[in-house]
Amino acid sequence: MSEARIYDVPPEWAASAYVDESRYQAMYEASVADPEAFWGEHGKRIGWFKPYTLVKNTRYAPDVSIRWYEDGTTNVAWNCVDRHVAERGERTAIIWEGDDPAESRHITYRELSGHVQRFANVLKSQGVGKGDRVTLYMPMIPEAAYAMLACARIGAIHSVVFGGFSPEALAGRIADCASAVVITADEGVRGGRKIPLKANVDAACAKAGGVASVIVVRRTGAPVAMAAGRDHFYDDLAAAVPAECPCEEMDAEDPLFILYTSGSTGKPKGVLHTTAGYLVYAAMTHHYVFDYHDDDIYWCTADVGWVTGHSYIVYGPLANGATTLMFEGVPNYPSVSRFWQVVDKHKVSIFYTAPTAIRALMGAGEEPVKATSRASLRLLGSVGEPINPEAWEWYHRVVGDHRCPIVDTWWQTETGGILISPLPGATALKPGSATRPFFGIRPEIVDGEGKVLSGACQGNLVIADSWPGQMRTVYGDHQRFFDTYFAAYKGKYFTGDGCRRDEDGYYWITGRVDDVINVSGHRMGTAEVESALVAHELVSEAAVVGYPHDLKGQGIYAYVTLMAGSSGDDGLRKELVAWVRREIGPIASPDHIQFAPGLPKTRSGKIMRRILRKIAEDDFGALGDISTLADPAVVDDLIANRRNKI
Ligand code: PRX
Repeated sequence: MSEARIYDVPPEWAASAYVDESRYQAMYEASVADPEAFWGEHGKRIGWFKPYTLVKNTRYAPDVSIRWYEDGTTNVAWNCVDRHVAERGERTAIIWEGDDPAESRHITYRELSGHVQRFANVLKSQGVGKGDRVTLYMPMIPEAAYAMLACARIGAIHSVVFGGFSPEALAGRIADCASAVVITADEGVRGGRKIPLKANVDAACAKAGGVASVIVVRRTGAPVAMAAGRDHFYDDLAAAVPAECPCEEMDAEDPLFILYTSGSTGKPKGVLHTTAGYLVYAAMTHHYVFDYHDDDIYWCTADVGWVTGHSYIVYGPLANGATTLMFEGVPNYPSVSRFWQVVDKHKVSIFYTAPTAIRALMGAGEEPVKATSRASLRLLGSVGEPINPEAWEWYHRVVGDHRCPIVDTWWQTETGGILISPLPGATALKPGSATRPFFGIRPEIVDGEGKVLSGACQGNLVIADSWPGQMRTVYGDHQRFFDTYFAAYKGKYFTGDGCRRDEDGYYWITGRVDDVINVSGHRMGTAEVESALVAHELVSEAAVVGYPHDLKGQGIYAYVTLMAGSSGDDGLRKELVAWVRREIGPIASPDHIQFAPGLPKTRSGKIMRRILRKIAEDDFGALGDISTLADPAVVDDLIANRRNKI
């Protein structure tokens, strides 16, 4: 791993940022020495209806219970909208940039307030009240943010499902949290193509059952089927409700949202985040990690269907009264200069994206970047997967013209906000390292037995104490929450990531150590892809592993055993890929399908994934001990038939 280069903090950054090195040290030490005092102070960065007197009440063992600011009351929408209207009502809250470069809009905080209140009343008109779950299946349009904030305003719990998920996947998520209301759009638009969101919702509702109301925002105006009594266009409902809607007074620990994410086993988990601690943490990390100042224009390219969109397009920036850019399109439409054209058009100063996008754009060369000015940029960010040093250097040199520090932010859906990241005025950068912990975060590296390692070392990453943005439970399954994150290492939160710490105390995330793979920054459980494959009538067994992929970070490699009497060919490979796309969504498409008469199993029937991973990586010199296999001969066949292209 290249550790040769260290990028020191530019002197002008050390001088102007909120935090320089000595302040980082002082604040970090204070934050871990006395979390009560530290978070007691920083809780004040949001507004409260009733101030808290209690700060931290958390335990990871013998059971798990996480409560922050528990006797305070507030409202997230009030903090993200109302609070700013008097002071900065005419300031732009959201810049919306459409898929078509000719389309963009500025929405002020005053306008945002109007939209959110009306949307909240529309939800009420559909019978939504405090604690009810509302599923959003939306394109990247401002109405997605209005709908999230409208839920928060009236105390409803939103569950945003990424618009790239299939009707099957959407149905599972609607059913799991028993959403009676779904918000969608007629169609989405991405890269010049239309996505039939409403039609997908219809299919999902038919499967999930229990949906009483579908609210349809008109995006393209395409005709869509409308079920009488169940489906309503947003505009029609909005015209019939009052303009003003008061904020519900929420307890700090009332749920704010559910976000489904993949784990190593079973169906996706409903990660539950609550009100106050989440907002404090999202706002505070946005402020310090991006060194957000009032004159910045901030752009995070994520989709609101992922946690990055929740914390760093909507909640963190808006809580800070920021201007946040929301982009409907894709990096390569109409051309591969699009990101940088948008930067120039809106004078973006802080730009936050994923390594997979950087790698894809890198493949198109420097010219499309250099054709743009990018003079407004001052800070770059990365999230979602480890960034390889080559991509980091390219991002720094070509996109940032050597001027802009890069914050490589490590975190997870579960963590609510960034846990390990440089602070641009404080931290010397090493390409490929997420560097050091944020305030209040106590990372530790443990070995397989749970022994805490010290100094330079490598092992599994755990976090030793709670922080306000942490998830509180798996929706409807608190035992699964404990079992997944707190059972492996007693008294610690297990991240599922492997990690190395170097002699300077910098953290280098090495990737997942469980059966979760990270495809283009999208998290995917191998078990989910396997269960989609075995649902096909010709498939008897499937085992899925990740393997290194130049653009995606990891690709999906599926070993498939067919039912007796069936034979695999390219036609069936294509059919199985289409099948998985239908069951889960395009992001789960296997890159390789290898038909295998047998899978390597122990005598007790457990599939030895280690062997499958090695074969997928073309690393069969290092298969290790295969003597415990029930039938070692299957390995020869797997090697002989590896990597048939789809
Ligand atoms: O493996 C880590 C990787 O993404 C996982 C979390 O995925 P998700 O919950 O979808 O959230 C993604 C956006 C926060 C982690 O367990 N990951 C995320 N950021 C980084 C990363 N790996 C290395 N470096 C990062 N900066």
